[in-house]
Amino acid sequence: MRSGFLWFLPVSILMVSLVFAAESDLSKRRVPEKKIKEIQKLENPFKASSENIAKGKTLYQTKATCFTCHGKEGRGDGLAAPGLDPSPRNFTNAGFHAMRSDGELFYVIKNGIPGTAMMPMVGSVITEEEAWLVLLYERSLGQRK
Ligand code: HEC
Repeated sequence: MRSGFLWFLPVSILMVSLVFAAESDLSKRRVPEKKIKEIQKLENPFKASSENIAKGKTLYQTKATCFTCHGKEGRGDGLAAPGLDPSPRNFTNAGFHAMRSDGELFYVIKNGIPGTAMMPMVGSVITEEEAWLVLLYERSLGQRK
């Protein structure tokens, strides 16, 4: 009986966090208003070739550590995801990609999102070039049916 009860606690805490944590409002921009014009102009210096997308995928799933939160296939279901509020973004959602320019996504990877688990990754974990390659992979996920 006692061991049954001990199981109940962590499981119920996990269930509560799964129910309450959700992705944050997509319509809210992640780039400060005064920077948005300049950020919108940024373009990915790499072509979305299958070779570059594969490089980005390898980075995403290893060194860049994105998979730990965003999930191996980008569904927002990484190992660390259940404890996070807001939840990591799901990159397989085409609607998300439609609402963000490359520059906005790059800005987030570089500067993080204050108040969330999304940390600044460029400089500490990956270079700017690697961030652009990871972005190509992220974009390719939004095109999957
Ligand atoms: C420690 C967990 C964690 C890691 C590691 C992480 N992220 Fe995130 N990421 C988040 C969370 C949480 C959000 C949602 C923040 C929000 O909704 O404001 C997010 C949001 C994002 C967004 C969407 C921002 C938007 O405009 O809505 C992008 C793009 C992104 N992450 C890219 C990456 C990339 C690329 C990597 C790897 C280089 C990475 N993240 C690593 C937790 C993480």
